[in-house]
Amino acid sequence: MSAKFQRIKGFADLYGESLGIFSQMEDKAREIFPRYAFKEIRVPILEFTDLFQRSIGTETDVVEKEMFTFPDRKGRMLTMRPEATAGVMRASIEAGLAQPGTISRLYTIGPMFRYERPQKGRMRQFHQINCECLGSASPYADAELILMLLEFLASLGLVGLRLKINSLGCRECRPEYMRKLREFLGSLDVDKLCVDCARRMAVNPMRVLDCKQEGCAELAANAPRLLENICSDCQRHHEKIMELLAAENVPVEIDHHLVRGLDYYSRTTFEVVSGDIGAQTAVAGGGRYDGLIAQLGGADVPGVGFACGMERLALLMKAQRPARLDFYMVAIENDGLDKAFLLAENLRKAGLSGEINYGGAGFKSLMRQASKSGAAFCLILGSDEIKDGEITIKNMDTGEQWRAPQSAVAPKLKEALEQ
Ligand code: HAM
Repeated sequence: MSAKFQRIKGFADLYGESLGIFSQMEDKAREIFPRYAFKEIRVPILEFTDLFQRSIGTETDVVEKEMFTFPDRKGRMLTMRPEATAGVMRASIEAGLAQPGTISRLYTIGPMFRYERPQKGRMRQFHQINCECLGSASPYADAELILMLLEFLASLGLVGLRLKINSLGCRECRPEYMRKLREFLGSLDVDKLCVDCARRMAVNPMRVLDCKQEGCAELAANAPRLLENICSDCQRHHEKIMELLAAENVPVEIDHHLVRGLDYYSRTTFEVVSGDIGAQTAVAGGGRYDGLIAQLGGADVPGVGFACGMERLALLMKAQRPARLDFYMVAIENDGLDKAFLLAENLRKAGLSGEINYGGAGFKSLMRQASKSGAAFCLILGSDEIKDGEITIKNMDTGEQWRAPQSAVAPKLKEALEQ
């Protein structure tokens, strides 16, 4: 017998419940983003390697260690996109969507590829829902984008998420901050930093600020703070965003060490994090990238955007809303099956989820199936219930049961589900 094929490490097949959750996320994105005037764009998975080097930065972990890069048959270097922003910028420049005086709001959904060590919430092929707003330098654009992201996350029923924000300054004030940061890092005992940070100190010193290694975090705690060193224009930009978010009662945490792992950011950076998905806490991240489009050969058009990691959102959705049917309908054949069938159909139209048996089993066996289905409630339609125009609702967790009129089963069940 020949050996079975296996999927590549860090790559996953999507089907069943997981695929259902992904589809649900995509549906919500397609429902919510257009309300904010965002339109869909789809860009290729393969791009010339240069594009990522020039946008993400050659000294980032993504470009240095994580890209799937290979030559095509003519020896040109191609890369499977590690993120969507660079490709969306390239496409916007080519399509004339990144023009001074025009605002283009674009979203894209699809697979990304990074050669990282796979673990819970970290894959080599993962999926992002990515939004970019091109053409405005206004803090209203940042605030609106963040509010749209939070609206999207709330629509997935997610709770307990925290929004973190920082500002990285602009081309005017960053050089002076970098001078101060280098001076500070130069005063540290390099031996106490991790190997990566010892190297980063020279090539990408801001990354030392968000190193998760305990020793580095301790040393970086006293580093000069970006928000205390940026210019007054950057300050005003940041404060306006904070004011707009406060007006919407959005809790925000300032994170002085939120510098992000990609080099194109200027001014605003933000992340949404969760404590419920293990070590990989960021479910979404983004920020402003005012010089990027010009750097890629386009006009000097500003932009701001974010991406959510769908695998991480799916983990959260599974953890926070264990997939559970609302009801299992038990009907005895010939007695109540027709009636139960129609009732179950009405319940689904009312937004409830449930399973029904198709007859051919006794009461005891049906109750066993009800319990095996994991449904929250069992609905029983026996001859007594039919005679009285009622139905029995049984709470499968507590065993408690009561009767309700068949005409009111949807509101009664919803009420019970909310308790
Ligand atoms: P990023 O922070 O590199 O930003 O990725 C965004 C999100 O993608 C992360 O918060 C995480 O949820 C998810 N993610 C990243 N790597 C993996 C992985 N290996 N496995 C699973 N999920 C992962 C960007 O990609 C920027 N392009 C975001 C952006 C758009 N900034 C401006 N516009």
